[in-house]
Amino acid sequence: MQAGRVAGKAAIVTGGARGIGKAAALRLAQEGAAVAIFDVLADGEVVAEDLRATGARAQFIKVDLTQEADVEAGIAKVAADYGTVDILVNNAAIPGVNKLTHEITTDEWDLVFKINVRGTFLTSKHVLPLMMAQNAGSIINLSSIYGLIGSNDLPAYHATKGAVLLMTKTDAICYAPHGVRVNAVHPGSTKTELFMQAAETYPDGKDAYLAMMKVKHPLTLGEPVDVANCILFLASDESRFVTGTSLVCDGGYTAQ
Ligand SMILES: NC(=O)c1ccc[n+]([C@@H]2O[C@H](COP(=O)([O-])OP(=O)(O)OC[C@H]3O[C@@H](n4cnc5c(N)ncnc54)[C@H](O)[C@@H]3O)[C@@H](O)[C@H]2O)c1
Repeated sequence: MQAGRVAGKAAIVTGGARGIGKAAALRLAQEGAAVAIFDVLADGEVVAEDLRATGARAQFIKVDLTQEADVEAGIAKVAADYGTVDILVNNAAIPGVNKLTHEITTDEWDLVFKINVRGTFLTSKHVLPLMMAQNAGSIINLSSIYGLIGSNDLPAYHATKGAVLLMTKTDAICYAPHGVRVNAVHPGSTKTELFMQAAETYPDGKDAYLAMMKVKHPLTLGEPVDVANCILFLASDESRFVTGTSLVCDGGYTAQ
């Protein structure tokens, strides 16, 4: 069997075609897990090919998290190919439009919830029976510093990330008797496409946005691998006594 911190385990990473999800897929594969990437972007196939080139077991499955049939079929394929699912990283999310509460439309609000909250619910719902059957499993939900504290933007995104935090705590309690751990990771600003899109659309320009964000993060901005390493810890048995927790990975943003 391959050596590593998650050797022999089967993992699903949603939103693994790029950014934090891609880094998490890479770290899990490097540490011995078989990895399935769920994403709407075909780039997920390139990530899976790159992982296979290193000798890892990896596959890309096109899954739109707004479609329950996609989620069910994707999880069934992983269970058939890898035998079970030991690790679920609920990473995919969108920020949605950057409008204030009195400006955002109900459709815009609903879309952020449909992907960030309902998507997380759907993957957990369909993976949990597999984990309960083996009395073991680790679910890692990506919340955000925006799920812990407020700021002057993205009200719907904040609401979804707060919801993900409480879904984490409740599922941690409900599934502990079944050997399943559920934890949340709360990244600060991390240099991914999502973050750079926010920078590009900042009214005062990208450079002003980056300078402002650096001041807010005493250790400076994060790299995707920094968050991926937190995910890896929670995925591995090193964290076997950890459930329902919030692992804040924010360079000190929320310490101030
Ligand atoms: N980057 C940051 O600064 C930051 C900060 C805090 C929290 N986060 C959280 O970390 C996670 C990853 O963020 P990121 O910066 O890597 O984002 P990203 O936009 O770079 O990547 C997100 C991925 O999710 C996928 N996705 C979106 N909608 C989907 C759907 N309906 N079905 C399947 N896949 C879908 C996208 O295609 C993309 O590959 C998110 O939950 C995000 O909220 C990021």
